[in-house]
Parts: sequence; structure tokens; C-alpha cells
Amino acid sequence: TTAHLALDRRAVVGPVRRRLFGGFVEHLGRHVYDGIYEPGHPEAGPDGFRRDVIALVRELGVSTIRYPGGNFVSGFRWEDSVGPRAGRPRRLDLAWHSTETNEVGLHEFATWLDAVGSDLMLAVNLGTRGVQEALDLLEYTNVPGGSDLSEWRRTNGRDEPFAVDMWCLGNEMDGPWQVGHRSADAYGALASQAAKAMRMLDPSIRLVACGSSGSYMPTFGEWERVVLTHTYDDVDYISCHAYYEERDGDVGSFLASGVDMDHFIETVVATADHVGAVRGSTKRIEISFDEWNVWYQSRFEQVDQIRGIDTWPVAPRLLEDVYSVTDAVVFGGLLISLLKHADRVTSASLAQLVNVIAPIMTEPGGPAWRQTTFFPFATTSRLARGAALDVHVDAPTYSTSVYGDVPVVDAAVTWDEESGTGAVFVLNRATAEPTTLELDLAGLGTDVRVSEAVVLADDDRHARNTLADPERVGLRALEVESGPGRARVTLPPVAWAALTVT
Ligand code: AHR
Repeated sequence: TTAHLALDRRAVVGPVRRRLFGGFVEHLGRHVYDGIYEPGHPEAGPDGFRRDVIALVRELGVSTIRYPGGNFVSGFRWEDSVGPRAGRPRRLDLAWHSTETNEVGLHEFATWLDAVGSDLMLAVNLGTRGVQEALDLLEYTNVPGGSDLSEWRRTNGRDEPFAVDMWCLGNEMDGPWQVGHRSADAYGALASQAAKAMRMLDPSIRLVACGSSGSYMPTFGEWERVVLTHTYDDVDYISCHAYYEERDGDVGSFLASGVDMDHFIETVVATADHVGAVRGSTKRIEISFDEWNVWYQSRFEQVDQIRGIDTWPVAPRLLEDVYSVTDAVVFGGLLISLLKHADRVTSASLAQLVNVIAPIMTEPGGPAWRQTTFFPFATTSRLARGAALDVHVDAPTYSTSVYGDVPVVDAAVTWDEESGTGAVFVLNRATAEPTTLELDLAGLGTDVRVSEAVVLADDDRHARNTLADPERVGLRALEVESGPGRARVTLPPVAWAALTVT
């Protein structure tokens, strides 16, 4: 099989924002406790945070980190998590049926973010709480001083404001599982009030209204229309969340998950623009794709197992998916979908970061290691610079039971005019044969060539990295035939690859 890719530096989709490579840390399972934070671990610093995990998060290249949830935030009282640790309450977290000790709170997390070199994105609780508590948190984090809550922050050891710039107005409020779940109308009205009040306090912040928890939701489309009809003038973003998994051994459809993500993004954009058109507004709502990943939700039973009035564990093992090569290839395809829509998807958060559906795993008292999904994220975050280009892919199709005929190859291209370097991210969805890619690079410049190429693939597409074998899967160099203005590579079956062009 052969596919052709034509690259043209004038065909700009939009700038690649660093925010596209965001992450997400929720107080869930072993994410915070026994994940990023494990006092007593040989790698723990004096503040209890594991240095080996910090090093891996830095290597992953994560920009903004959404915090502290997720479903968790809809029952969270932020003030529990600040002030002297000894006085912090232990609370029951309904979302994950766990005990939250509040040992790690806002200040500790911000210190960790400084260590990993990422920015804070906060979610406010619009499940059990409302406008006043959102304002209180904003006053605490962003007002320099001179008011009750800003002075409380200073008393708690943080003189300078946290200056949090991006805020989620609740989480997945369309989901019946969400504490405080509401109708689109009720949520839209509340989000609009919260947004207006928060902007009165700090006009510089950027606000995200909750979109759908997935395009499979029965309210999808209508939810976005109603919520944006309430909030269009008040917010900057609408969120998208999407998780994919291989169902019933249908790997062909699973490998085409990016097709679904493309469609999801394009329909949300169309819905937002429709609301704008009806209002006669020239403002454009952007997308914060603030939860995306591969997640085997069908295998997720652990919360049911621990449910009961007398069972509220601290940091139970929840959502600890172990990712295969196939999962990582699909994951790389989701990054390709985000890049292809860089004009409207201007912020995104991989859900999540450590132990919980995560690219990084840890064992209490033991090592930390990279899952297969670590590699496409770290590589894309490192190489995608400048602008995303509209790449022309000419590839044969294959038939899928879920998405119909789908191209065997998907690709995204970025080009940085300033340094004259670019990157091609590409997927081979064929499960049995290799695919040869012919790249026409002349549209980038006459003497542009491929200088480096790496691939994620394996003879065993089920191979994983585990505690017993943490380095089983990694990136390999990919052989390139390259001349000025053209290149040819052959991708093995079920593969994700990244090519650097200079
Ligand atoms: O990322 C795991 C969970 O998925 C989040 O808490 C929730 O927002 C979503 O349903």
C-alpha cells in the first residue's frame, strides 16, 4: 500500500499553542497520593513529591495542568485544602467513593507545578456549590492582597497571587453521574452568572463552559446550543471530552478513533458558530478539549467494588489502565486530530497524568515508568511548533464497522517559519501490511529534507510496559529515503511515527 502526502507551508490552519499539550491531575485513586506525592519514598523530596515522577512529567512536556477534577471537583470544598495541614479535614469524596485527606492542596500542588514547569488551570465546583464559592476561590488565588481571602493566602505562605488564568466552570454537568448534575438550561444560567461575577473580580481570566461529556451523550449538540445560548458573551471556550477503547476486538474501528474526534470537534464548532450567527455575534468560541485519552471504561468496575457506607479508602487503585502499542497508536492519532483543528481547539488536557489512565505509572516504594502512550505525547509536544498546516493525504481506505470507509493513513504537519523546521505526525491504521508514504516536501522549500524519523510499532501490537518489564516498548528510528523536496518511509502495520523536516 502506498499513500501520498503533500505539504504546503502557505496552507496554515492555525498557530500551535503550547496549551494544546496540557495535562490533568485529579484527586482520584493513586494520582496524587502514592503517585506524584509519596513521602517516605526514596525519591521523595522534603515536600513529599517524588523526584523521579517530576523528571518524567518534565520529559513529557506538559504545558497547563487542569486541577483538581474531574468528577471530584463537583463535591470539593477548596478551603479544606489550604491552611495548616494538621487542621485540614478528611472528607468523603462521592465521585470516587474515597477519603480525601487534603494533605496535598492548592499550595502544595502549585509548588509541584513549579517543579514540573507547568501552569495551573483550575476548575470550580458548580455541583454542590455556586457563584459565591467560585468568587471566593478566585479572590484567594488572584487578588494580590488587602482583602480577607487574599490575605488568608498570604498568611498561608504565598505572598504573590497564583494568577490562575484559565478556569473551568464546573465539570461534565451534562452527566447523570455528576454530583449536582443539571439540565442544559439550569447549568447554562448558573455558568453565565458565575462567569459574569468572576470577570467582575478579574477581567483577565479565560473561562470554559462545560460541553458534553462525549459525543455519545443523548443531549449532545442540544446541550452545547443551550449552554452557549446562555453563556456566549461570558465565556471563551466550550469543553469537549472524549475517551476511546477497543470494543469487542474491533481494532479497525478503534484505530479510526481520530475520525470520531474530528467529527466531534467539527460539530461542536458548527454548533457554537450557529449560536453566534443567531446572535449576530462576530465572536468565535474556542474549544478546550480538556479530557481526552484511551480509557477502557468497559473494564472499569472498581468503584462498584468499594461502594458501601463503611468503605472509603485513601488512594485506592482506580482506572489504572495499562496501555498497549495499539492504544498508543490510537492516542497518537488523537493528537493528530487536535493538531488538525488548531484553529479552533486552542487548549487541551490529556486525562490524566500519573497512575490514573496515565502515561506515567508508579509503584509505592518502587519505580516510576513510561507507558506506551508517553512516547507520542512527549514527541508531539516537543516537535510541534509554529503553525499547523492543512496537509493533503491521498491514501487508500479500509472498511470499519463503526465509521464506514476510513483512510489507512492520517497525518498532521506543523511548520515553524522562524527556524525553518517542521514535523510530520503520521498514523498507519493497516493491521496486516506496511504502508509506504511518499512525501512531497517541495511546498515547504526546495531543499527541505527529513532529518530524523521515529516510529512506535511492534511485532506484538498488544505489547505493554509494566512493572515487571518497564522498557518493553519504546520509540525506534525509522529508515528514511530522502532527497531535496521529497522523502519516502515505510510504516509497519499499526504504527505512529514522527518525522522532523529541516
Ligand atoms: O478522567 C476521569 C473522569 O472522566 C473525570 O473525573 C470525569 O470528568 C470524566 O468522566
